[in-house]
Amino acid sequence: MADLGTLEELPQDYRDDMTAAGVAPLWPMMRNVLPHGQPKPVTKPGHWAYDAVRPLLLRAGELTPVEKAERRVLVLSDPGRGPGAMCATPSIYLGMQLLLPGETAPAHVHTPSATRIIVEGKGGYTVVDGEKLPMEEGDLVLTPGGDWHDHGHEGDEPVVWLDALDLPLFVYLEGSYAIEGPLQAQRNRPDASQVEYLSAGLVPSRLRGAPRKYPMTRFPWARTEAALRQMAAYGDGLPELDYVNPETGQDVLPTMGFTAMMIPAGATDRPPVRSTSAAFHVVRGRGTTTVNGEKIAWGPKDTFTAPVFSEITHQAEEESFLVRIHDRPLQEKLGYYEERAR
Ligand SMILES: [Fe+2]
Repeated sequence: MADLGTLEELPQDYRDDMTAAGVAPLWPMMRNVLPHGQPKPVTKPGHWAYDAVRPLLLRAGELTPVEKAERRVLVLSDPGRGPGAMCATPSIYLGMQLLLPGETAPAHVHTPSATRIIVEGKGGYTVVDGEKLPMEEGDLVLTPGGDWHDHGHEGDEPVVWLDALDLPLFVYLEGSYAIEGPLQAQRNRPDASQVEYLSAGLVPSRLRGAPRKYPMTRFPWARTEAALRQMAAYGDGLPELDYVNPETGQDVLPTMGFTAMMIPAGATDRPPVRSTSAAFHVVRGRGTTTVNGEKIAWGPKDTFTAPVFSEITHQAEEESFLVRIHDRPLQEKLGYYEERAR
């Protein structure tokens, strides 16, 4: 590899003149933006134990008024970028949100897509595009970019969910904004996961009109777990299920992908090195994950992350169910998704 020199090696007057002209020399800095072989991520593995986050979140409930309920979120900041970083990986924002009984979050719409994985509590719901989605533990609920949504809580205990958004991309593109509006009128019927898309392999007849762009915005955990268990009982290897749009078979969102995983007690999962960054949410279980040699001991409801091109090994102590949030859909669209054997 050719030695491209350093900025400091250039004459000071030349550097000053370049600065005055608003230009910079590529050659000493090229390896910062085009490293050899694979990226050099800024992102570091993160681990947020729910036992540590939960009391802080409940305290936030005491400190913030009901009007701020929609923003009562603790952001999970990438350790590589430091405290206050508004992302957990370069493409994924994660936050833990608390909604207390009786609270609502006003309706709004924004350019980034948001998703929730319900962590604890009963009675919470999200209304997406007029459809009321119950939020039960482990459910995946989508609020795709451009879809109106609001939240409410009809139960009597705190509800906590994990928000995952493609916000960092929109911030980078200077494309992130929201519009607020009045609460939506709700359709008087169960959500699409209980009506049109109750059964895998069956979709409403095309004669009934064009499907919505995001036809199913809630994926009930009970069905996901049942499917994983059945695969574990009869399939080869460790079961994984991708969440897809039932009309197209494509990923549920343009940029973010979701994969449900089951790792039986005592089993080890050693996936290939992937070009994607990833966040793992533990729906249930306990185990250890090694990310590039760094050991993360996780328990129920914990969340942890891995940078792009990580060597990841999961070991489950107990029967474990995880949801992997990743950016494969984005990378496939950009044409560089890659897996490397270990
Ligand atoms: Fe939102």
